[in-house]
Amino acid sequence: MFAQLIQDPAKINYVENPAKPPEIDAWGQLPKLASTFDHVDGLFYFTYIVCIFFFVVILGALLFSVVKYRRKTWDQPAASNVTHNTPLEVVWTIVPLIIVMIMFAWGFKGCMDMTVVPEAASRNTYKATAKQWNWTFTYPNHATPSFNEVWIEVNKPVQFLCESTDVLHAFFIPVMRVKRDIVPGRFQSVWFHPIEIGEFHLFCAEYCGDDHSRMYAKVHVVSAEEFATAPWDKWDDTTPALAAKSGESLYKNLCQTCHSVNGTPAVGPTWKGLFTKQGDTFVGRQREVIEGGAKKTITVDEAYITESVRKPDQKKVAESPYDKNNMTAFPDLDERRIKGLIEYMKSLAAAQ
Ligand code: CUA
Repeated sequence: MFAQLIQDPAKINYVENPAKPPEIDAWGQLPKLASTFDHVDGLFYFTYIVCIFFFVVILGALLFSVVKYRRKTWDQPAASNVTHNTPLEVVWTIVPLIIVMIMFAWGFKGCMDMTVVPEAASRNTYKATAKQWNWTFTYPNHATPSFNEVWIEVNKPVQFLCESTDVLHAFFIPVMRVKRDIVPGRFQSVWFHPIEIGEFHLFCAEYCGDDHSRMYAKVHVVSAEEFATAPWDKWDDTTPALAAKSGESLYKNLCQTCHSVNGTPAVGPTWKGLFTKQGDTFVGRQREVIEGGAKKTITVDEAYITESVRKPDQKKVAESPYDKNNMTAFPDLDERRIKGLIEYMKSLAAAQ
């Protein structure tokens, strides 16, 4: 019966794993790769040890009493009639109170450290826009944004100003020990100081709908020299084939969660068959769409796809269930990138 509840893995439209997970230590912890927020691990281990200590003490006392004071015969009288012990009750109220106050103070100071951004980090401010279900990153002093991937410089404190265009999300980079809820309608800031070059995971850590579990991004920590080349702004479209290749990698980063390329139904319509190849030319398919409440038939072309990327609600695919699903708008996706996606769509036709 459970087999029916679990989706066939072959039918799931997996997104490529964004980054290789770093090695974990003997405690099962990820390495800390930021010079900031030592309190996170300290507080974690403190809480862990307190829990283990009291678990052993309480369970030990319980087991000891069960064995030692068990009733040995049916008519055995009670060993004691004591019902209260004021000094003992004071002790087991005051001691836990002190311990949780230590945890609170430690956590509160840590929270303030993480959210009060120092001058050096505020001079290196990124914007992270979360929406169902992807991330857009805008860079300091650079016009081109990146999607589901972000490049930052090693040994340079960085601030992320996080915003959401729809529901609650959370910005979580485990190896940097940072996590911040993203609340629609306000900017939430978080900062850290990366100390190691590599590729790391950024997760959404707040349940935000169907594809919450796939809402992750790749964080590239790179050297200053590499950063200066703006690696996120490399876009090779010197030939249609290279543009299609660039388009394919963007598709995998951004579109794959909702659109398949093999005909599999997903949140959005498949890209298979959007274009067919007739001789040397690509012909867009005919499609029924709803525009302003009225149904009409259009031919898929560059203008339609560009509009669908930037203003997806303008013409909605009339076929069920797509007429009811809303696509995220990507108003900041530039023309070259949309062209790359279109070249990729066309290459799907050529491959058939
Ligand atoms: Cu966004 Cu979970």
